[in-house]
Amino acid sequence: MTKIFISCALPYANGPCHLGHLRSTYIPADIYARYNRMAGNDVLMVCATDEHGTPIAVKADAEGKEPIEVAKRYHDMIVEDINSCDISFDNFARTTDEIHYQISQNFFKYLYNKGLIYEETIQQLYCENCEKFLPDRYVEGICPVCGAEARGDHCEVCGRALDPIELVEPKCLTCGNTPVIRDSTQYFFKLSHFQKPLEEYISTNPYLPPNVRNYAQNWLKEGLQDWIMTRDMKWGIPVPLEGAEGKVIYVWGEAFIGYMSSAAAWSRRTGIPWEDYWNGHVVHFIGKDIIYHHSLFWPAMLLGRDCKLPDDIFAGEFLSLEGRKMSTSKNWVVWVADFVKDFDSDLLRYYLTINAPLNKDTDFSWDEFQRRVNDELADVIGNFLHRTFTFTKKFFDGKVPEYKNPSEADLEFEQAIKELPDKVGDLIADMKFREGLVEIILTAKKGNKYFNDQEPWKAVKEDMEKASNCLYLSNQLCKAMAVLLKPYIPNKADAICNIINIPTENTWDDAKVFLETGHEINKAKPLFKKIEDKVIEAQKEKLYKNLETQENESKDDKKDDKKSKESKDEGEKMDLISIDEFAKVEIKIGKILECEKIEKSNKLLRTQIDIGDKTIQVIAGLGKRYAPEDLVGKKVPVVTNLKPAKLMGELSEGMIMATESAAILTPDDCEIGELLM
Ligand code: 2FM
Ligand code: ZN
Repeated sequence: MTKIFISCALPYANGPCHLGHLRSTYIPADIYARYNRMAGNDVLMVCATDEHGTPIAVKADAEGKEPIEVAKRYHDMIVEDINSCDISFDNFARTTDEIHYQISQNFFKYLYNKGLIYEETIQQLYCENCEKFLPDRYVEGICPVCGAEARGDHCEVCGRALDPIELVEPKCLTCGNTPVIRDSTQYFFKLSHFQKPLEEYISTNPYLPPNVRNYAQNWLKEGLQDWIMTRDMKWGIPVPLEGAEGKVIYVWGEAFIGYMSSAAAWSRRTGIPWEDYWNGHVVHFIGKDIIYHHSLFWPAMLLGRDCKLPDDIFAGEFLSLEGRKMSTSKNWVVWVADFVKDFDSDLLRYYLTINAPLNKDTDFSWDEFQRRVNDELADVIGNFLHRTFTFTKKFFDGKVPEYKNPSEADLEFEQAIKELPDKVGDLIADMKFREGLVEIILTAKKGNKYFNDQEPWKAVKEDMEKASNCLYLSNQLCKAMAVLLKPYIPNKADAICNIINIPTENTWDDAKVFLETGHEINKAKPLFKKIEDKVIEAQKEKLYKNLETQENESKDDKKDDKKSKESKDEGEKMDLISIDEFAKVEIKIGKILECEKIEKSNKLLRTQIDIGDKTIQVIAGLGKRYAPEDLVGKKVPVVTNLKPAKLMGELSEGMIMATESAAILTPDDCEIGELLM
């Protein structure tokens, strides 16, 4: 039995959870944890809300509240979101808990006493009006590299990390004044000191996945710089040193310690030492935007603290929504709390796993969600379970029949059932969650084919042995699936167990144990209902409406929007793309042949566009700026290789390229069908 320490990246307590959080971190971690518990390993899975840092302080200022009130509000929402999706944390804490303060301050002092944290005077921006230094997001201005509007620590447009004093035309976010540069003494962590041991760790650790290793190696090549560990602000954990009054530990200097403090709180409750788990196998589940922090900064802090390093860092990719980058500030997002009001959370767990290989960004699309639930969960798994159970009830008095003189087909199917638990288990242990689920679906498909081929409805009349064998084996696959689906869709798995009349708590190896002949099952209930078109249309309408409202509002109050924008921006992650990725986009010159308004939308237009080799229908959000007749006859660049999607129930097979303010580009000199390079 291995002791496994599993953590999920600590969500900032400045917003509830959206689907992106679940996909990159919580669902994969939960599948891994549940599987390992069933496989007999001893798992401790922890997390907490990340409650310090400037985004929360800025949000609180904007609301006229204390940061702790804001943090508490979102902590409670996040806990609900996580519970609603059955993420099985052993402890979910807060970085504002007393125990976290103690452990973080001790950690800081330990590094300081070892000479790994030192003081240095640097220049920082100071607002004379507010009488405070302006760390990170308390200041905004123009990015010195690309000229875009940027906040103090980061430019969203070119993706660079910035030092606030580099900003052109800096402004205090609170009062709008131009800050001055002042000397300020801060504490730095000697990250550079760990260059060699980190190179060793990154290159020799056998578990690190390639994306984590590659990112880390690239940064190591650039050479590590020491990290500033403190901030001049009130909100945070006070620096535990004399002469450091008014300073707090930088949020990234203590957030990781939340893994340990959450585990320590669990130890207080249970009396079991969490350190045994840390000294076993440690796996951090994170989003890929924080690989730097987890592969370099955190291991360096741990080396300094003389602690064992994490064994595995699993970095989940991003999730886009209907083909666009998710954006909380633009309301282009599906909140977990909204989702679970309308659907069983297991459907989400299923979709976000089956549709999301972890080394590739993926898209959440309502149509694709419906298709997968209907075609896979309902038609493949649901159908196999239901026909097996109803048939067993009807023809075998609800009892698992006998298995005698198996045919070739029986033996082949029996073999597939027997191999399934190890196949799926090995894939999950190897972090291939999607692949494990695919194996289950494929075997259920095989089951449906076997059932059709055996034709037990005929065989009950003509060849009872054949019918019995078919139902015996079909019940065995149902049982195996009831066990093996548990890490993926725990509620549905329990419901299947209840019908089969077996306990809901099983070990992984229980999937290998066949039900005995004569075992009685309960009455079947449909487990997976198909999702109707109108339900999906309603979801899409809600989403697109949000976007429209948000676009209107943001135009009206662009000026006083700054503070809340700052705090809402979390979750929008900017990523640079390669030329190869860009080359995947096919843009052609098209001519708008027809154009009409879509009822119920104040913005969407239905257009028919000649793109040279064919005419396509595109639903475009240009209706506020143009009347349909203005557009007929216009040539426009069109993205022609987008996956078709439905907007307000209308098929859209491409996208007209237009500016943010919905102005079209009119390349009158180009030929229809011409490709843009
Ligand atoms: O990026 C984030 O959302 C951070 N709140 C993650 C912190 S993870 C770790 F440090 F605990
Ligand atoms: Zn100010």
